This record gives sequence, C-alpha cells and structure tokens, in this order.
Amino acid sequence: MLKTLYARLALVLAGLFTVVGVFFLLLLALATERFEQELTQKLNRELAAQIVAERLPFDGEQVDQAALEHIFHMMMVINPKVEIYLLDPAGRILAYSAPPGKVKRARVDLTPVRRFLTGETAFPVLGDDPRAPDRRKVFSAAPINQDDRLQGFLYVILGGEAYEGIAEMLQGSYVLRLIAGMGAAGLLFALLTATLLFALLTRRLRRLSAAITAFKESGTLQPIAEHSNGDEIDRLIAAFEDLAGRINAQMAKLRQTDTLRRELVANVSHDLRTPLASLHGYLETLLLKDSELGDADKRRYLDIALKHSARLSRLVAELFELAKLNANEVQPQREPFSLPELVQDVVQKFQLRAEQQGVHLEHRIERHELPFVVGDIGLIERVLGNLVENALRYTPAGGQVKVALTPGDGRVTVCVSDTGCGIAEQDLPHIFERFYKPSNTPGGDGGAGLGLAIARRILELHGSVIRATSTLNDGTAFTFDLPANAT
Ligand SMILES: Nc1ncnc2c1ncn2[C@@H]1O[C@H](COP(=O)(O)OP(=O)(O)OP(=O)(O)O)[C@@H](O)[C@H]1O
Ligand SMILES: [Mg+2]
Repeated sequence: MLKTLYARLALVLAGLFTVVGVFFLLLLALATERFEQELTQKLNRELAAQIVAERLPFDGEQVDQAALEHIFHMMMVINPKVEIYLLDPAGRILAYSAPPGKVKRARVDLTPVRRFLTGETAFPVLGDDPRAPDRRKVFSAAPINQDDRLQGFLYVILGGEAYEGIAEMLQGSYVLRLIAGMGAAGLLFALLTATLLFALLTRRLRRLSAAITAFKESGTLQPIAEHSNGDEIDRLIAAFEDLAGRINAQMAKLRQTDTLRRELVANVSHDLRTPLASLHGYLETLLLKDSELGDADKRRYLDIALKHSARLSRLVAELFELAKLNANEVQPQREPFSLPELVQDVVQKFQLRAEQQGVHLEHRIERHELPFVVGDIGLIERVLGNLVENALRYTPAGGQVKVALTPGDGRVTVCVSDTGCGIAEQDLPHIFERFYKPSNTPGGDGGAGLGLAIARRILELHGSVIRATSTLNDGTAFTFDLPANAT
C-alpha cells in the first residue's frame, strides 16, 4: 500500500497531525493548570494578611495551640481547600491546621515567600507543599510583626484541583472538552483537505505512470493531461511525451530502413541472378555443344557471355560505389575547377556513342563568362557521365542531348536535357531511388537503376540537390548547381 507516493504523503501528514494534536493537548493541559494556579493565587493573594489581621494568638515565642487551631479550623470550614501553617522567621513550621502525621516537612523554603511578598514576580509563585516533600503549590503568605519585629509568617497553601492526568482534567471541564474537541475537529478537517489535495496533485503523476506502463507494453502514447499549468509535473509529462514521440519516430525509421534493406537485398539478388544465369547458360552450352557449334556461333555465344559478365561487374561496381557513398566512406575532395572543361571532356567521351545512335550531342557554354566551381572533380564527372549516359540511353535516333551551363547568384547551374522518351509524372518523384525503374523504360541493356541514386548522393555530399523535369514522349531535363569559387 505504501508503494504509492500518495499513500506515503498521506501517512506522513497523518503522523505530523497526530504529533501536532498531542502537542496541542499537552499545551492545553499545561496552560489550563498554570492559568488556574494564577487565578487562585491572585484571588487569594490577601488571604494570609487577612488572617494575620485577625490578631493571631502568637507573640513570637508563645503559641496558643488551642486558640490557633480554632482559628485554623474556622478558616478551613469556610474554605476546605486551604491549609494554614505558622512559620518562624527561618521558615520552620511552628503550627499547622492539618491532622497530625500528614505534614511531611519541618520547614518551608522562604525564597518564594519573599518573592510573593515583594510582588516583584510573575504569578503563579509556587512554594513548598509541607504535606509532600516533592510537590510545590500556590500559596498566600503574610509576615507577622510585633513591635516592628518580624515574628514569623503565616503560610497558606491554596489547594486547587489536583489532576492526575489530561483525561481526568478533560472529564472535569466542559470548556476544556469543547476546546480539545474543536482542536481535534480542526486537525481532522485539515488532514482531510490536505489528503484530498494530495490526491488531486498526484493524480497526474498516476496518469503519467499509467501512460508510461501502457507505452512500455504497446508502444502507443495515450493522452495524459488535458490542460497544462506548466509546473514540474507538466514538464515531466511533456518530456515523456517528447521522448515517447522520438522513440516511436526512431522505431518507424528503423522499420523503414529494415524494409528498404530487405528490398535492396531482394533487388540485388534479382539483378545479379539474371545476368549470372544467362552467363552460366551460354558458357554451359558452349562446353556441352562444343563439337556441334560452328565458329561463328561460338563467337556469338562468347560475346553474349562477355556482355553479361560486363553487366555483372558494372552492377557490382555501382552497388559498391553507392554503398561507400551512403556509408560516408567517400568524402568529396573539394577544389576549384573549370566546369566547361569537364563538360567538354565528358561530352567528348560520349560523342562516338551518340553518333552511332544517331543522336545529336552538344554542349553550350560561354566559356569566358563562367567562374570556376568548387567540388570534387572526379565525383562531379561521375554525375555528368551518369546523366549524359541516361539521356543517350533514353533518347531514340534523331533526337538531341544538350548540356548547358548557366552562371548566376554565386553558383553555376548545370542542365542536361534530351528529347527522349520522357518520364511519366507518377514515376518522376521516384527515379532517384535505388533500383527504381519506371514501367515504360525501354528494354535493351537498361541499367540496374542505380545511376541517379549515385548522382543524387554525390550532390548531397556537395550540399546540392538534383531536380528532374520531364514530359512523357517529349524529353527530360536534369538540373543541379555548384558553388562558384569565391576568389
Ligand atoms: N534522360 C532520361 N529520359 C527518360 N528516362 C530517364 C532518363 N534518365 C533516367 N530515366 C529513368 O530513370 C530510371 C532510373 O535511372 P538510373 O540512371 O538511376 O538507372 P538506369 O539508367 O536504369 O541504370 P544505371 O544508371 O544504374 O545503369 C531509368 O531506368 C529511366 O527509366
Ligand atoms: Mg543511368
């Protein structure tokens, strides 16, 4: 039961209130006793002096026991709670009103008596009780003088109520019972209110803990607080919600990565298997039918096998390259270089192939206007090569492929455009994904679908983005830019 914060708070509070209650009762008892003593002493302050004024039969040496006892007796009849003692100037008890044997002291300490007589003290003043060696009581006292000489003191013990304990005291007084009852009721009310408040305060904590448990079990985040006061608990709730959100996002990302990885493995194995199977098939045929095949057929089979093996090694190389780029193993070695020269090189490399295909390949550059750009020349060459290769691959004979460079705003924009088959609108957002090949891609020796993924990653490493615009059956254009060299 004590496992909840609420239970502990309530218990501590109840304990605290009990202590306060007991302390209050003790205080009440002490105060009541003191008040009663003070009242009794003040009311009877002059009692001893009044008795002395009655002319006591005592002249300092002689005590008329009979007469004295008569007076004492009379006094006690009037007020049975008083006990009267006659003291000599040193405090010794000469005579008293009590039955013999009851008085246990031979003398009384005079210090409190003198304090009482001078009046320079706070009431109540407690003096020795001759009937009990260890008890002190309130009293009234008066000096007995004769011929201006101190003969002794009259010492009157003012017996008040003597209680054995608080319970007896409470039983004896309605007012005390009322005060104690009201105090107890007040404490109880405060305790109930505080417990209720704690319940309200800890409610959000309980909801938070329930939400955490639910999140742990199912991964779903249930709403915790409807409104926020911005206190510590709210901040805790907000922090937890933030944390849970992040965990969920991370989980989703991990799941997505996992799916992509699985797809990748499936794609890679598919793309590797097809050329490998063909290669295997042709080589096997060559081996088995060696005697039946003519030289021309053998050569043709070997050519095909070679083409497949080239395709395989290209695929493996591209995969390896992309993996390295994605793992940040390749860091661009940035340096200023002339983009027009690079474009010219790349275009030259593809010129022969373009001519064979009957495609017009050209580059348009106003050389002197262009500043140098900053980047990794090898990697940018790879991007340009991929784009031009794609353009040539997807542009039929009679078409046109153009590489244009435009300076502007501290950057140089590169645009590779063609008049080829174009890309359908629904495919356009996906062509940069690895292994993505639109369904309308013309057959032939289509690639693996990695070229654009590699190009995008390289430009990403350069802090740039590549964009594609295309109209189906009309042409495609790829654009990216590079920062111009500042100096
Ligand atoms: N210039 C273009 N014109 C029309 N379609 C294009 C063009 N460039 C790319 N595509 C489409 O985008 C797809 C992805 O291109 P990407 O370069 O990534 O792969 P790929 O050329 O098929 O293979 P790889 O480059 O790995 O040899 C291509 O399969 C093609 O359908
Ligand atoms: Mg390509």
